[in-house]
Amino acid sequence: MKQTDRVAGAGKTDRTDQVAAPARPRSPRVRRYHVGQQEIIQGDCLRILRRMKPESVDVIVTSPPYNIGLGYRSYQDRRTENDYLDWMVEIATAVRRVMRPDASFFLNIAGTSTEPWLPFELVVRLRDLFSLQNHISWVKSIAVPGDSFGHFKPVNSGRYLNRNHEHLFHLTLNGDVRLDRLGAGVPFKDKSNIARRGHAQDQRCRGDTWFVPYETVRDREQKFNHPGTFPVRLPELCIRLHGRPAPVVLDPFMGTGTTLLAAQRTGSHGIGIEIDPDYVAIARQRLKEAGES
Ligand SMILES: C[S@@+](CC[C@H](N)C(=O)[O-])C[C@H]1O[C@@H](n2cnc3c(N)ncnc32)[C@H](O)[C@@H]1O
Repeated sequence: MKQTDRVAGAGKTDRTDQVAAPARPRSPRVRRYHVGQQEIIQGDCLRILRRMKPESVDVIVTSPPYNIGLGYRSYQDRRTENDYLDWMVEIATAVRRVMRPDASFFLNIAGTSTEPWLPFELVVRLRDLFSLQNHISWVKSIAVPGDSFGHFKPVNSGRYLNRNHEHLFHLTLNGDVRLDRLGAGVPFKDKSNIARRGHAQDQRCRGDTWFVPYETVRDREQKFNHPGTFPVRLPELCIRLHGRPAPVVLDPFMGTGTTLLAAQRTGSHGIGIEIDPDYVAIARQRLKEAGES
């Protein structure tokens, strides 16, 4: 230590020395709520996941922040790319620990026109942890010859097409999880196929392109004042595709509780983790209202 570095009084053991120990940042208090079979935990998902029982979850459906600067209330959705990817790998490692050996992890993510590589960078980083058993395209709007379905945005760029789909990566521990493909299936268009091909029911596999449009809303309030929700039908299809009776369903980035609504609809026990108290309050309200209707 240079002479000039010496702090006045250093080496003495008076009261000031004891008080000066650096304070550790405090984590926000964890709160738990129950609505019927659904459990909501308010807090940081990384911390909570690390305390959950290992191998206790059947299905994870989640949409993390995409690192594109969306205005979530508590979370700042803008990190450096490396910081974001490192964080996501930490989360995915913690998710892996709570997965039963035959669990399914459905990870919904999208890039933007200016950050198009991000979802691919992420899924490549997850390669050491999971098998990519299926890659589902969630189509939000689509044009088919002579017709269009879903909501279309106006033309606002001379370079980029409007992004009408997002990724749904189906990650499993070994790539060998048996699914209920007809449980998430669609009815035959040509019903004569049922008898001709010897099918037991009027359902065929939906394939890996899922058209799930947003419900029409008039204002932000109807989207629960949250910038990035998905429709209930999306997690519902994931739960049905995984196909276990009364599964434990987890969403570590619960937002307004959409995955728990799907869990409620399918008779599952849902666990939702969310850091922002206002979104937690919205999720509780949505679940209560859905349970009463
Ligand atoms: C894309 S949104 C999820 C929206 C949800 N799928 C829905 O339909 O409402 C991501 C959510 O993660 C939350 N979040 C961000 N960091 C978190 C953390 N460390 N722990 C728990 N939640 C977090 C944000 O507040 C945001 O609500």
